[in-house]
Amino acid sequence: MEKLTSVVFLLFTLCIILCREVSSNDKVKTLYTFGYYYSQYFPLEENLTPDRLIRFSVRAPRDAHILLAPTHDADEPVYEIVLGAHNNTVNHIRGRCPCQEEPSATVRTVNLLNANEFRHFWLRIKKERLKTFIQVGLGDSDTPFHEWRDPRPLQPQYLSFRSATKAEWHYGFRDSNYNSGISLDRRQSVVTSTGFGQYFPISEIASFSTAGITLYLTIRSEKEIQILLSPLVSTLGEFYLIGIHENGAYLKKRLLGVNIATYKQSKFLTKYERSRFWIELSNASHKISSILSDGMITLGKGTSLSALLQWRDPHPITAQYLSFAMYQPTNEDYDPSVYSDVQYGLGPDYTISSQDCTPRWREAAGILPSGAVHGGRYNEHELFVCRAHYNGEAIPGNYIAEDENRGGCYIAHNFSVQEIHRFEVLTGCCLKWVSASLGHVPEGAIVGGYKNNTPKYYIVRVKHEGVLIIGGLVPEERIAHVPFKGQQLPFTNYEVLVQAIRTETSTIVTGNRKPSPFLVETGSNLESTVELSKT
Ligand SMILES: *[C@@H]1O[C@H](CO)[C@@H](O)[C@H](O)[C@H]1NC(C)=O
Ligand SMILES: *[C@@H]1O[C@H](CO)[C@@H](O)[C@H](O)[C@H]1NC(C)=O
Repeated sequence: MEKLTSVVFLLFTLCIILCREVSSNDKVKTLYTFGYYYSQYFPLEENLTPDRLIRFSVRAPRDAHILLAPTHDADEPVYEIVLGAHNNTVNHIRGRCPCQEEPSATVRTVNLLNANEFRHFWLRIKKERLKTFIQVGLGDSDTPFHEWRDPRPLQPQYLSFRSATKAEWHYGFRDSNYNSGISLDRRQSVVTSTGFGQYFPISEIASFSTAGITLYLTIRSEKEIQILLSPLVSTLGEFYLIGIHENGAYLKKRLLGVNIATYKQSKFLTKYERSRFWIELSNASHKISSILSDGMITLGKGTSLSALLQWRDPHPITAQYLSFAMYQPTNEDYDPSVYSDVQYGLGPDYTISSQDCTPRWREAAGILPSGAVHGGRYNEHELFVCRAHYNGEAIPGNYIAEDENRGGCYIAHNFSVQEIHRFEVLTGCCLKWVSASLGHVPEGAIVGGYKNNTPKYYIVRVKHEGVLIIGGLVPEERIAHVPFKGQQLPFTNYEVLVQAIRTETSTIVTGNRKPSPFLVETGSNLESTVELSKT
């Protein structure tokens, strides 16, 4: 046991150096992309001055694209950076127009992107005398690994992301050394395209209450806007699709399906002013033994609590992601001047700050509750934080989302793994994982389990053999216990789930800044190959 612990400790020390986020605080946003649609544009800070970096992290196997554009029209001159192009072997910086396939500058890269790990990048528009360079850098290194001089510089105002495969992004990093260059109001965006390309985790942007979860939105649009609430980062299968247009609203469960419910009212949505809407996904969790979600989906407008559109789904699905698209009939010509202005992730008073992120345990007898906190990954499966009652204790563990309605909560107990079928799932938002070791419990840690009504376990996760597993920390034992392949494994290094402190100025930087360990070759020789360690 001693030996195992020390090996694991070593692995973990390595992992803390290699896998850590650059820095994190509650301004960091999560975004998923899938498909080649730059449908949603996020405003940059008004003055993207040359010394400001746009930092982001991405987890994708290949082809992660970032657009910097003066307008929200991808056919106009733009900058496009393609990370991990040609099956993760080259990086492109494209100037002017993404419709021109020829990249403006290309550098060879090795393992720049990774399907299982976040890689941390920055972008900068550097002005030197009369020259302007688009620079792409990695991690904490201030030296770009790739740059391109633009003879006719653009003034980007918007940022967008897309990817060939499912990709997860973190953006909006802000710390004492760097300005993110991203507008403070990153819950605002411009939607231009008819395709769903950007997906937001509902747990980060919904308001939670005992009645369920509510999404508050403001929308200004000439064309119909479509709001997708989906269990997956894709438009495959079933989801809830709410269309809001000039003359009312409708609800569907499939892209080409029939309208299940409709509401008619003229001037329901206009291009002249932002209208406020709310969408509620209700649940019946106050009735402890009943199925969690009662499948009721409701659309309302403004401050009125009355339902304009309401439907109870007899076969409820668990929406985990929100996406937007602008609907354009195929017989109409594309007009780049037409767009939708959308604010999302708002609180009940339609401001950003009033979100209720209180962590709550919800009975998961029926389906996975919306806003479930995911923490782990087992191969392609997302693992959600659950807690089960066993042998007089409540013990935190893992719930595999894909096993909805069937699988239980996997916990570690008495040196083995138990699968418990009656359990609760943690919901909440503005949570994050903070590295710690040897029994240390960071401020704001969430209690994950009890023994004799006394808090006993904190919720932790541990990376082991390429998977990320959720377990419990008993501080006095100085060890985190994690269920893995039938065994209860002990770890001295772990990440603890904490509630982010919600103040505008707080910054939590994890650890000291070090030069990026990924970078084999630094220096200004941009002809060199950028090589990342294989994991
Ligand atoms: C892409 O790269 C991966 C990993 O190096 C490799 O397994 C795969 O065969 C490559 N695919 C193509 C089409 O070259
Ligand atoms: C722990 O496991 C051992 C061996 O399987 C068993 O004998 C013992 O009763 C278990 N203890 C508890 C508290 O479940």
